[in-house]
Amino acid sequence: MIRSVVRGYGAALPKRVVPNRELEGMVATSDEWIVQRTGIRQRYIAGEGETTASLGEQAARAALDRAGLTPDDIDLVLVATSTPDNTFPATAVNIQQRLGMTHGFAFDIQAVCSGFVYAMATADLYIRGGMARRVLVIGAETFSRILDWNDRTTCVLFGDGAGALVLEAAEGEGTVADRGILTAHLRSDGSHKDKLYVDGGPSTTGTVGHLRMEGREVFKHAVGMITDVIEAAFEATGTTADDLDWLVPHQANRRIIDGSAKKLGIPTDKVVVTVDLHGNTSAASIPLALSVALDDGRIKQGDLVMLEAMGGGFTWGAILVRW
Ligand SMILES: CC(C)(COP(=O)(O)OP(=O)(O)OC[C@H]1O[C@@H](n2cnc3c(N)ncnc32)[C@H](O)[C@@H]1OP(=O)(O)O)[C@@H](O)C(=O)NCCC(=O)NCCS
Repeated sequence: MIRSVVRGYGAALPKRVVPNRELEGMVATSDEWIVQRTGIRQRYIAGEGETTASLGEQAARAALDRAGLTPDDIDLVLVATSTPDNTFPATAVNIQQRLGMTHGFAFDIQAVCSGFVYAMATADLYIRGGMARRVLVIGAETFSRILDWNDRTTCVLFGDGAGALVLEAAEGEGTVADRGILTAHLRSDGSHKDKLYVDGGPSTTGTVGHLRMEGREVFKHAVGMITDVIEAAFEATGTTADDLDWLVPHQANRRIIDGSAKKLGIPTDKVVVTVDLHGNTSAASIPLALSVALDDGRIKQGDLVMLEAMGGGFTWGAILVRW
C-alpha cells in the first residue's frame, strides 16, 4: 500500500526574541506567573517585513533542501494557518508564488492550533488517493498580530513562527513497521466555538479582530480530548504507549502536555517540549517542535512518533507516524 513518508523538515522563526521579563513592562504579569502556569519562558515576535507567508516560505525552503528536492518536485502546497497574509488568496498560493511554482495546486487549512495535524491528514489522503506524489505541508503563524496586547490573560501565551515537512508517496507493506503516516484521527465540536475565538472577520465586523479565550474552560477540556484521540490512534494500529519513541504534542501549555502524557502512561523523557522556547505558535508548534528534536538527534529514522493537537473550535486530532 502507499504510505506518506517524511522526506524533509524545516523551520523558521522571526528575528526578535521576547522573554517574559519584557512583557512585565506591558501588562500586569510576571516571569514567575507565566513560567509556573504555562512553562513559557520566551516567544518570537514577527517584525516589519516578516509575515506568515515569508516565515512559511523560509521553512519550506529548508524542508526542500533537507529532502534534496526543489519546488519543481512538489505537487501540492498545504498551509495550516489562522493568521493568513490576506483574507484571500490563500497563504499557500502566496508561498507557491514565492517558491516560483506555477504548476500543481495550493490551499490553506484552517483548524487553528490543530491545523498542522489536519493538514498532514489531508496530505496523506491526497498522496494515498494518487492526486499528489509529494506534498509540502506548512504550519505558519503570526499570532502576535491578532493578540490584544492589553489583555494579560492571552498576550503572554502566543508567539510567531513556521515549520514544514515534505511528505512523499512510498510503497509500504501495510503494517506498523512501515515508514510514514500509519493512522490519522480528526475531531471537532463547534459547540465550544465561543471559548477560543477571534472577535472579528470579513463577514461580521469587517475587521481582523483579536483573540479571545476562556483559558480555564479550554484547560478543562484539553487533556480529555487529547488523550481520547491518541487512544484512538493506538487502537487503530494495535500499538500502545510502550511502543512509542516520541510524543510531539501541540505546544500550548506545559501543564496540559504533562497531564496528557501522565494519563497515557508516557514517560516525560519521551515527550518533546518546546513551549518554553516558542510559546504557543498555533499551527506552527508541532513542526517547530519536530525541527528541534530532529536537529538535536532525538528523533531518528524508524522512530514511532505520535503528533497531537487541540485548539479553537474545538478541533483536535492525532497522527501516528513512523519516521
Ligand atoms: C491561561 C491559563 C494559563 C491561566 O491559568 P489558570 O491557572 O487557569 O489561571 P486563571 O485563569 O484561573 O487565573 C488566575 C489568576 O491569574 C490572573 N492572571 C491571568 N493572566 C495573568 C498573567 N498573564 N499574569 C499574571 N496574572 C494573570 C487572573 O486574572 C486570575 O486572577 P484572579 O484570581 O485575581 O482573578 C490556563 O487557563 C491555560 O493554560 N488554559 C489553556 C489555554 C491554552 O492552552 N489555550 C490554547 C489552546 S490551543
